[in-house]
Amino acid sequence: MPDLRLDQLLSQFGYCSRREAAAWTKNGRVCRGGQALLRPDQRVAPEEVLIDGAPVEFPHRLLVLLHKPLGFACSHDPAESPLIYDLLPTRWARRHPAPFSIGRLDRDTSGLLLITDDGPLCHRLTSPRHEVEKTYHVTVATPFPPGLADCFSSGTLLLRGEAKPCLPARLDITSAHTARLFLREGKYHQVRRMFASQGCPVTALHRQAVGALTLDDLPPGAWREVSPDQLG
Ligand code: URA
Repeated sequence: MPDLRLDQLLSQFGYCSRREAAAWTKNGRVCRGGQALLRPDQRVAPEEVLIDGAPVEFPHRLLVLLHKPLGFACSHDPAESPLIYDLLPTRWARRHPAPFSIGRLDRDTSGLLLITDDGPLCHRLTSPRHEVEKTYHVTVATPFPPGLADCFSSGTLLLRGEAKPCLPARLDITSAHTARLFLREGKYHQVRRMFASQGCPVTALHRQAVGALTLDDLPPGAWREVSPDQLG
């Protein structure tokens, strides 16, 4: 990250507006090497400064894993509240660029969701060529129809309104009403539509993993930092 003017740094990382930066520096809230930085036009490396005694959050790229609870929308539109962004620090919404989710989960789907401010990383993770595997835990109300796993793995299942069939997907049936589905793409409502197309509606859906990343003990609504190398 190149050096930035302090007022630009404070506004870019969501601490305050450029206009407010003069008061922040004057009040000694920004330091480097134990010295207060008093001029808002001074250029600094974001990773070298402390703001109110703490390092700049995610000075290079923001990438976190959120355990999305049921009932939250993957949207920036307040009309759709509650939003997944309500679960993240409010300062992040003022960052430029603001963080966004890599793909979406339905309001009534829970589980692992990645949040970033890195457009190229998002593109890499969602492009059909590089698409990483996503693991869903699926609950259904009716018994699984015979041949469902073969149907999903065939690469010929064409969902209504789609031009191309679903890519081959693995289905592991784990009990009379539960299964794990492994997908390498992300069409709109894909899991629910795949099961519904075979007369077997989904009653609960939870994403357990994206690539090598899992939720581990992270409780619903909580988030933790991850490194892109952990995506496997
Ligand atoms: N497929 C769905 O149907 N819903 C989700 O939230 C994710 C995948």
